[in-house]
Amino acid sequence: MARLRALSVLITLFLAVFAVTSSAVALDSRAPRCKELCITRCNRVTAGQAGTPGQTLRSAAVAKGKYFGAAVSPNLFATAAYANALKKEYGWLTPGNAMKRDATEPAQGQFRFTDADAVLKQAQANGQMIRGHTLVWHSQLPAWVPNTAGTDIAKARAIMTNHSENSFPGQLAHWDVCNEVLNEDGTFRQSFWFNAWGGRRYVAEAFRLARAADPTVKLYINDFNVESPNGAKTNGFFNIVSSPIDGVGFQAHFISGQIPDIAATLKRFATLGVEVAITEPPPEQTQATNYAAVTNACKSVAVCVGVTVWGVEDTDSWVPHLLLDANYQKKASYTYTLNALNA
Ligand code: XIL
Repeated sequence: MARLRALSVLITLFLAVFAVTSSAVALDSRAPRCKELCITRCNRVTAGQAGTPGQTLRSAAVAKGKYFGAAVSPNLFATAAYANALKKEYGWLTPGNAMKRDATEPAQGQFRFTDADAVLKQAQANGQMIRGHTLVWHSQLPAWVPNTAGTDIAKARAIMTNHSENSFPGQLAHWDVCNEVLNEDGTFRQSFWFNAWGGRRYVAEAFRLARAADPTVKLYINDFNVESPNGAKTNGFFNIVSSPIDGVGFQAHFISGQIPDIAATLKRFATLGVEVAITEPPPEQTQATNYAAVTNACKSVAVCVGVTVWGVEDTDSWVPHLLLDANYQKKASYTYTLNALNA
């Protein structure tokens, strides 16, 4: 009996040592990426610490378990008022243009990461996270891409692979892998990518390559006019979300003054087992109440991780309906958003 007990103690000890060693091995095998992963994880913890709790969008969002972010323009980082507002109000940054393909490889083989690196640096200096934007999009695609590949799938795949590898592994929290792949009726847009693959398979390929390039980033699909619960485009969007897509971005560029029941849509997508995010308001005809509505919608859905507005102040956006005016003064939209976060 005593021998049996001793044997079982020995086995338990062996198993414990084995468990510790194998988890150490698992960690070691990620060693080369460890520093980058740490930046991402550390930022996740500190992303909301700037500002008094509840007094800024950034801290108010974190108090509710969400983030509040903005699309950014690196050419404004040197403007003190811009940099201050960015640091104080926004816990997450999306490069408005800096990571698009026309910015990073304007001519074939000529890579330009100055602006993208400036966003990474800004985020690291201020404990902010980054939504990468965007790997595969029909727009802001330099002309050399379709000119080189045409409808040759092998050439198109080589370019897509190169772009995914020449992105920002370990540096991003989210990555908009595919942006705006659908038409308004929910069918696939006839983009260069669609035509090169002869169909929708390029989407799965893009996600596969993005996952291979960065095993830890959350992979997002992102689109606009997909916020009304049963619209044709929303239904099309719903039908294409599957593994390995981790998250679904709703741009929320509502065209009419009336906004749809976006909370119901977020809840519907949550049933797919993905997280969701509001990625690009303002709506084109913005009232302050619309900002409150999208913020409330995100708050009401557990898997909605946060809201990003498309610019910091009104002159820094393609739609000048932001939360701060050109002099960085808070607008009614700001107050409605902050109140919605704090409620
Ligand atoms: C916009 C940028 O903000 C502009 O500076 C640029 O001229 C055009 O693109 N949907 C998107 C964003 O996903 O990338 C777009 O950004 C706005 C619409």
